[in-house]
Amino acid sequence: MKEDKIMPLVTTKNMFEKSMKEHFAIGAFNVNNMEIIQGIVDAAAEENSPVILQASSSAIKYARIGYLKKMIEAALEEHDIPIALHLDHGADFETCKMCIDNGFTSVMIDGSKYDFEENIAVTKQVVEYAHSKGVVVEAELGKLAGVEDEINVSASDAMYTDPDQAKEFVERTGCDSLAIAIGTSHGAYKFKGDAKLRFDILQKIKEKLPNTPIVLHGASTVIPELVEMCNQYGGNIPGAKGVPDEMLNEASKLGVSKINVDTDLRLAMTAAIRKTFAEDTSIFDPRKYMLPARELIQETVQHKIRDVFGSSNKA
Ligand code: G3H
Ligand code: 13P
Ligand code: ZN
Repeated sequence: MKEDKIMPLVTTKNMFEKSMKEHFAIGAFNVNNMEIIQGIVDAAAEENSPVILQASSSAIKYARIGYLKKMIEAALEEHDIPIALHLDHGADFETCKMCIDNGFTSVMIDGSKYDFEENIAVTKQVVEYAHSKGVVVEAELGKLAGVEDEINVSASDAMYTDPDQAKEFVERTGCDSLAIAIGTSHGAYKFKGDAKLRFDILQKIKEKLPNTPIVLHGASTVIPELVEMCNQYGGNIPGAKGVPDEMLNEASKLGVSKINVDTDLRLAMTAAIRKTFAEDTSIFDPRKYMLPARELIQETVQHKIRDVFGSSNKA
């Protein structure tokens, strides 16, 4: 434990301001259990980087909110870096309120399933409550496609975030950051052919909203070595494909402030556990397979922070 004062959880305000000024992105990593939290914060501390720990509703249901909070408190006692705790994909006002009341410093209200006016209404409601408690709000405009969605070109065009609407949305809701759709999608199967992101749309959005931090969901690389490792040791994840590192690096330079990563952590954990089991079938002590899992998560997160997002030494 640190001898000096313990750093409290922070909001994303200062880290985003710095990211926009200095053209780097901050990793927002999904957490579900102790080893994932430790792997991420150890990586961020090693790189002296700010970091966002985010929990989805299903992660909160799985780990239970009290455990998540206490484990993250423990991380703050150990490390001296800015850590924000964020609700990922809050489905409604009540979920956001519950997280705000439980000490989260940032929440996402995901109204992307609604039409424009309904999305504005629910986002405004969350912003009003969150700001009254000193909490920041991420909202979403546009729809993330899945590779399984068979959509024609004009339909897929309609799913991208419209830059004019984005400006109106931010002005009318007062949200603190905006998640946009420029071609990414959640999970391990993001592209059928080559990876393609609409950087032209990102640039137009940044022109209209130069001071609004932009968020990229569905931004895992689906690291080929990790997919290969899973498959080599008994997994079956054929044809998985994500956003290449160079594109994420480009996005962070073009004004994306927050890059969301879940799938790559799932792959790292699974790959390490599969390898351990395959190499020694006599193992049944969980520490023997959770330790390499935690180490591979740390290595994966450090690579992203250092080589892709550019947030090393920005704590
Ligand atoms: O965007 C979704 C995140 O990967 C969280 O997924 O709801 O299964 O925890 P989850
Ligand atoms: P990935 O599935 O690409 O890791 O995206 C995670 C995410 O966007 C969480 O909100
Ligand atoms: Zn997401």
